[in-house]
Amino acid sequence: MGLNINDGQLKRKLVNNLNDLSASEWIPETISVYVQKGLGAGHKEAQIEKQHPAPYSFQDVGRLIRFFTKSGQKVLDPFVGVGSTLKACAILNRRGVGIELVPKYVELTKKRLETELNGLFDNKDQSVIQGDALKVVEDFKDDHFDFIVTSPPYWSILNKKADHKVISTRISNGLDTKYSELKEDLGNITDYDQFLEILSGFFNDCSRILKPKKYLCIVVSDFRHKDRYYMFHADLANKLEQKNYKLKGITILYQSRKKIFPYGYPFSYVPNIHNQYILILQNNK
Ligand SMILES: C[S@@+](CC[C@H](N)C(=O)[O-])C[C@H]1O[C@@H](n2cnc3c(N)ncnc32)[C@H](O)[C@@H]1O
Repeated sequence: MGLNINDGQLKRKLVNNLNDLSASEWIPETISVYVQKGLGAGHKEAQIEKQHPAPYSFQDVGRLIRFFTKSGQKVLDPFVGVGSTLKACAILNRRGVGIELVPKYVELTKKRLETELNGLFDNKDQSVIQGDALKVVEDFKDDHFDFIVTSPPYWSILNKKADHKVISTRISNGLDTKYSELKEDLGNITDYDQFLEILSGFFNDCSRILKPKKYLCIVVSDFRHKDRYYMFHADLANKLEQKNYKLKGITILYQSRKKIFPYGYPFSYVPNIHNQYILILQNNK
């Protein structure tokens, strides 16, 4: 974008180093609430995504990729699941790398890229690596990526006893309710403080492979466990600010189509958590 600003004597040319958006496309993206987009569970292109217990929508991650990169730039998703980030990268002509621990999801990612781009978009610039992200990232050179975007495991909440929602939406349809039994799976760490320490340590390590002053976006939600409400988004953001990132903002992703369940009724207040948080962090280096 080359925008001429005439401020009296001085005519300055503004150069957009971040993305390919015009001013009128850029400004609405800075509103701190997004309404989640999705194809709907019945859509033929939602059948692979549905097999994963916690995917995000390729359209929502696509908004972030469009805002935080230019065409052709390199994007990393270290917890890629069934490849929503890579599908968005293919559609937007970015070069995506995904890392995923569970072989089944790696295969589903490949299948998704082969079947869901309808020949309209090329998947040759997308790659998925099977392995433990904590180890795999050590192999990338410094400043390799223009943007990192991901949604990590939310502690071990998928291991808790199935509630109404899990029974009616997943178990009754024979769908996975957790990622794996693997010991490297961050979703299997039982202690919350230890989990936070490991996850934040990992993202701090990722600062090395992210270019200077570039962005890391992390999609997470808060959760309840037993009687406690965990402000996971705030705990993680605080940890990352103590070291390699500056928190630039938090976008609320409103999940307007999520089903409502009668948690707590008629005894106590228990929220239906219908939002995710997008933590927007900038690399300090
Ligand atoms: C919230 S899900 C990501 C879903 C993804 N955004 C999508 O749309 O499909 C988190 C993923 O992290 C993976 N995971 C857990 N521990 C991992 C590790 N150590 N290395 C790589 N992937 C891991 C899980 O298997 C799971 O697929």
